[in-house]
Order: sequence, then structure tokens, then C-alpha cells
Amino acid sequence: MKTIMISNQKGGVGKTTTTLEICSILGKKYKVLGIDMDAQRNFSMYADAELNQVPTVNEVLNAEILLKDAVQHLPKFDILISSKKLVDAPKVFGEPDDIFLLKDVLEDAQDYDFVILDNAPARSPLLYMSYIASDYIIPVAECDDGAIEGLNEIQLDIARFKKRHQTDVKVLGILLTKYEKTSMHQMAYETLEEIGEKLGGAPFKTKIRKSIVVSESKTARQSISEYQPQNTAAKDYTKLCKEIIERIQG
Ligand SMILES: Nc1ncnc2c1ncn2[C@@H]1O[C@H](COP(=O)(O)OP(=O)(O)OP(=O)(O)O)[C@@H](O)[C@H]1O
Ligand SMILES: [Mg+2]
Repeated sequence: MKTIMISNQKGGVGKTTTTLEICSILGKKYKVLGIDMDAQRNFSMYADAELNQVPTVNEVLNAEILLKDAVQHLPKFDILISSKKLVDAPKVFGEPDDIFLLKDVLEDAQDYDFVILDNAPARSPLLYMSYIASDYIIPVAECDDGAIEGLNEIQLDIARFKKRHQTDVKVLGILLTKYEKTSMHQMAYETLEEIGEKLGGAPFKTKIRKSIVVSESKTARQSISEYQPQNTAAKDYTKLCKEIIERIQG
């Protein structure tokens, strides 16, 4: 089982879209669990999971219910939904040892091939739990200074946890989303190549092209790959998943 976290503290860069596509595409061939670590619950909503009166990641982290009794089985993958209560995570999970809670929970997820974590655009104990529980991180960025700055934050975070021997997380690759064929976007990709050297993971060759269909598919509560498989972004995500498997297999 490999755990992959999708992250950037910059909001709106395409983290949740990426989580949903990876879960849906890898889910055709592998046993996949997606976990929504964001109180906004966008991943839970985009994936069309049941949101009312069902167990969430909050109860699982608090050991009130076992992981296997809290996951929902969707057609392509399993999901552990999020809770609005997670806005209080800094208070509820404020003890130093709490950063190990997710790692402990995932000991019960060994039957899966992949666990994919969607993170909120914020620093919180939930983000730290993800660093500690993950084998790999996919930092997501769009062509924007804030998103690039977010990558530097990731580098500092990883260095901090590694120094304390709390994680061995590796950068699987930086993903450029909402890509357009302009010189500005090409320059952004070159910047990612430089940052990738510092982060220890080159950007994925596959860039996710900008497409209006991405938001349409959300309204339809489907992944883009299901909603319109011939769409450019859907094809890009399929190529990305091949690259992910190649990189993991080394
Ligand atoms: N390739 C793309 N082309 C066009 N629009 C996109 C693309 N990827 C994502 N978007 C749009 O960008 C917006 C933000 O996407 P998403 O919710 O995946 O970002 P996020 O990083 O998870 O945001 P947050 O930080 O709030 O969690 C959404 O409206 C989504 O439809
Ligand atoms: Mg999101």
C-alpha cells in the first residue's frame, strides 16, 4: 500500500480535482481509498459521496469508529469523507502526538493498493498528519506566484519533519495544472524544474491543460474522465496516472 498526499497551501490550484481524477483512474485497476482531509468537504461532494449522518474522518481519527466501518464504497474507489468539524482541528488535534493519528489509522488500510489524501489549503495538524502518514507527496501548482510560493512552504515542512525523523515522504513529482500554451506558462514549468531540484522531485512531464469541462464535470458530480473521457484534461489525467505508476515502480 502506498499513500500519496496532494497538497499546496495555495487555494484553488486543482488539488481536489487531481485527487478525484487519480482515485477514479487508478480505481479502475487498483484498490483505492480517497480520504478527504479538508473541512470544506469538496472532494466528498465532487465524488458524490453520502454526506449526511455518516461517519467521517473526524470520528476515525478520534478512534470512535474503525476505518473499515466508516468508508463508503463508490463505483470506482472507496472514500472516507470529511467533516465540517475539522475546522476545529488545531484545537481538537493539538497534542504533539496527534500528528501520528492518521499514520496509525492507515495501519488498517493495508488491503488497499493506494490511499490518496486531499489536503486543505492551510497549515493545520491535518496537514502535518498527512506528511507523517504519506510515502509520497504530489505538490500541485498553477501558473501563479502564490502557488509557487506554496511549493517553498512544502519544502520547509518536509525538511522540518525529516530532520526530526518523523517522515520519509518523497516528492513524487510537481504537477502543473490549468496549463495553457503561452510563454508565461512555459516559464512557470521551467521554474518548477528548478524548484523540483530543491524538492527532490522533477515536475511531471504531463501538464493538466485548462478546460471549461473541469467545472462542468463538478456540477455533474462526476470525474472529468467519466464525464468526458475525450476531453483534453481527462486525457492529461490518464497520462499523469501512467507517469505516477512508472515513478513509483522506479
Ligand atoms: N485543468 C483545469 N481547467 C480548468 N479549471 C480547473 C482545472 N483544474 C481545476 N479547475 C477549477 O479550479 C477551481 C479549483 O479547483 P480545485 O477545487 O480542484 O482546487 P483546490 O486546490 O482543491 O482548491 P482548495 O484550495 O479550495 O481546496 C475549480 O473551480 C475547478 O473546477
Ligand atoms: Mg480542495
